[in-house]
Amino acid sequence: MRSLDLVARQKLDILEARRLRRHLRSTRRLPGGVVNRDGHELLDFCSNDLLSLSHDPQVVAAAVDATRTFGTGSGASRLVTGNHPLLRALEQSLARHHGTEDALVFGSGYLMNAGVVPSLVGKDDLILIDSLAHACLYAGAQLSRATVVRFNHNDAAHAAAELAARRADHPRCMVLTDTVFSMDGDLAPLAELGRLCADHDAWLLTDDAHGLGIVSLDNPAPLKGGTLSKALAAYGGYICGTAVVMDLLRTRARTLIYSTGLPPGVVATAQAALQRIEADPAWCARPNQLARRFAAALALPTPAAGIVPLIVGTPERALAVSEGLLADGFLVTAIRPPTVPEGTARLRFTFQAAHTEAQVDALTEATRRALRR
Ligand SMILES: Cc1ncc(COP(=O)(O)O)c(C=O)c1O
Repeated sequence: MRSLDLVARQKLDILEARRLRRHLRSTRRLPGGVVNRDGHELLDFCSNDLLSLSHDPQVVAAAVDATRTFGTGSGASRLVTGNHPLLRALEQSLARHHGTEDALVFGSGYLMNAGVVPSLVGKDDLILIDSLAHACLYAGAQLSRATVVRFNHNDAAHAAAELAARRADHPRCMVLTDTVFSMDGDLAPLAELGRLCADHDAWLLTDDAHGLGIVSLDNPAPLKGGTLSKALAAYGGYICGTAVVMDLLRTRARTLIYSTGLPPGVVATAQAALQRIEADPAWCARPNQLARRFAAALALPTPAAGIVPLIVGTPERALAVSEGLLADGFLVTAIRPPTVPEGTARLRFTFQAAHTEAQVDALTEATRRALRR
């Protein structure tokens, strides 16, 4: 269709002019926090494989064994034939790890949020959401058709005021937040939000995508969600909570019912990685130790969970600093709107357990050079 191509071309031209067009760059990930792009080896300081477990021999062996034994795909939705016993074992491990009665695994973290929220609240209900919450929490909120109200980032007092003003008009209410914010690396005020939710009979759902394995949080939420695709080096998402709520989600969450179950090799990967995390706290502490070393050297705020944002303002500047780092052998992708708010384009540095102190010091020098250029 000519008109379809024309619209696509016009939209791309607008994005290009604003330096907001995105490209998929083919990248081979290698052991030790290294990638190969266009034939060049680069040190990778922007992936979410924070514990470098995607090349861990035990984790890889678990994936290979499960794939050899049970095949590659799961064949169908979990409610048909895709519910491999490995999934139940993983759910039990996740529930134990989070101290909840039960857990439920989804095809991804995005699918978890897009499925859980609309299963629990609907058009007469209220959702309060942190303004910087991840896009998939917003997707779940929108799919639910509830009234969605943003509260200022990490501002429990603002959330309290909104709840006081609006809660009585809605039969049910959910409060949605990341635990560790993906683009800023800061922590949600979980204790305050938990108290607030208890006072107003609101259900707190937290997304711990960037926290699991990296930072232990005292989390009062009755719905603790996360992903298998970052520190666990696999793919998939999960929610932990009471047995009765998990039972309801099993039978109501559309993204579980109408989407294929995870492949056995992926499930085995997550299970092996969770065992590694529980067995090796010193390894889990490394990303944040390295992040703190880097932040201290550049006089940036002390990171809480292994993520260091360096806000540079415009997309052009973020792209230029990223290019400068690339020229020195470091991969740190520029993060631009709409992933982050207008005017806050940034470099987002993440640190892997397998990185060395010397590599982090070299990154610090390269960052100084790139900022000067
Ligand atoms: C807070 C948060 N939730 C969910 C996701 C999505 O998880 P997944 O990649 O498993 O879909 C991300 C990924 O970037 C995230 O940062």
